[in-house]
Amino acid sequence: MTHVVTEQCVHCKFAECVTYCPVACFREADSFLVIDPDECIDCGNCVQACPSDAIYPENEVPAELAPALEWNARLAPLLPLATIRVQPLDDAEKWNGAPDKWASLAPDLAPRRA
Ligand code: F3S
Repeated sequence: MTHVVTEQCVHCKFAECVTYCPVACFREADSFLVIDPDECIDCGNCVQACPSDAIYPENEVPAELAPALEWNARLAPLLPLATIRVQPLDDAEKWNGAPDKWASLAPDLAPRRA
């Protein structure tokens, strides 16, 4: 099993999760992070660390956020490793909790919806 980052990370990227991860499972895009399912050890440390409540165990992802499973798995191999030097985005607080953030991403960075 793995944990997954969901839509609420987009345009926030608070990066607290990276600090709490005991392995190297987070990958970084310009405006969000994803989790590499092949690296995640399912410790769950990152869940409580995220100010956006963006991270779920894969078997607890709400139905409306289910595209996150494909999103994390597809993008993780394409993105660089996120380090503890990742900084929150300047507008993180403004975007925190905003709706429909996936819709603001370029098609190649957005989840593929069924
Ligand atoms: Fe994103 Fe939350 Fe981490 S906003 S970068 S999943 S702390």
